[in-house]
Amino acid sequence: MNILAINTANKNLEIALSVGQQVFSVVESENAHHNEAIIPAIDSILKQHNLKLADVDKFAVVVGPGSFTGIRVGIATIKAFRDALNKPAVEINNLDYLYALASEQFGEVGAVAIKGSANSYFVAKFIHGMLYKFTHNLTKDELIFYAENKPIAMFDADGEIDAKIVKIDAKTLINCANLSKNQNLTPVYYQLSQAEREKLKAGKIAILNATEADLSFLTELESEVEANALNQHQLQQILNDKNYITKIAYLNDTPVGFIVLELTDEVNIVTIATKKGVRNLGIATKLIEEADAIAKSKNLSALSLEVNYINISAFLLYKKLGFVVRRVRKAYYQDGQDCLEMVKVLK
Ligand SMILES: CC(C)(COP(=O)(O)OP(=O)(O)OC[C@H]1O[C@@H](n2cnc3c(N)ncnc32)[C@H](O)[C@@H]1OP(=O)(O)O)[C@@H](O)C(=O)NCCC(=O)NCCS
Repeated sequence: MNILAINTANKNLEIALSVGQQVFSVVESENAHHNEAIIPAIDSILKQHNLKLADVDKFAVVVGPGSFTGIRVGIATIKAFRDALNKPAVEINNLDYLYALASEQFGEVGAVAIKGSANSYFVAKFIHGMLYKFTHNLTKDELIFYAENKPIAMFDADGEIDAKIVKIDAKTLINCANLSKNQNLTPVYYQLSQAEREKLKAGKIAILNATEADLSFLTELESEVEANALNQHQLQQILNDKNYITKIAYLNDTPVGFIVLELTDEVNIVTIATKKGVRNLGIATKLIEEADAIAKSKNLSALSLEVNYINISAFLLYKKLGFVVRRVRKAYYQDGQDCLEMVKVLK
């Protein structure tokens, strides 16, 4: 089988061609504009091996996260080939590819990081080979914390951090193409584009009490984000228990997030979640501000919560909102991770 896999999501343009058991590659330097370089590069690798595009049996493309324009160029090219030639095309997640490269080159790694702009890092965390979480805009110190003292595999060279530098490899790209069954070719971006964010940010956020009519929304979102999710029955009991308050966040009248609070001598945040696609727009912040207002109105002393040590995006959010670590519970979660109990004292 002949497979053509392309990766335009990173600085280098990578083209990998497998012909039977053999793998060939073309890599264009960092300065190449992917949109100008891609067709000549594909043309040249095919010609070198006396093949035509129609001889390719399967296409694969890295769909991100990565360069916004690069991803669009790559996906558009492969979709055109797929549709014109009526051949299968699969997608490869850039982080899965980088993780496969890193673990082949170095064994176990704590995190795979890509240097972003302004001294920040895009970081992927894997547990037992599965992508656990992808976070952005981490500082150097946060990245080191996140990697839990295990080696960091860095995709673009960075002398400031003691990181292992990952080298690209066409064989691994072809392996990923062989493993992928996903034919969606849906782009995955680090973040929404500026225009999309501005549009969503201009939207109206409202925080309202949840009722039983919201049970299916609550159950669905809870099961999407939590390994040990509360089930529909438990959520229903919570809605009917006056020791709990559940609030839903609406963006332009669509439910997009929720928070469950337990009232004791403090307000405990039992669970909080925002839908993928509308994250980082301040929705969880608004839900926590609401919890803050409830605690103050009931004259309770503090807001508290528990967070998995490696849930860095949630940890950073709580830290930003004034929570501090009250205690660490070792190996608290089923996956063996520690739990951070955090608190924000209100009086
Ligand atoms: C954690 C979660 C609730 C945050 O919701 P959100 O609506 O995106 O949060 P907000 O937009 O109000 O807050 C943004 C802040 O959170 C942090 N943050 C959120 N996502 C982040 C990410 N991917 N990487 C790094 N920081 C992140 C940052 O501090 C960010 O502030 P900044 O933009 O100034 O850096 C959401 O990511 C989620 O639902 N995660 C899955 C469920 C979960 O983990 N719940 C917490 C259990 S304890």
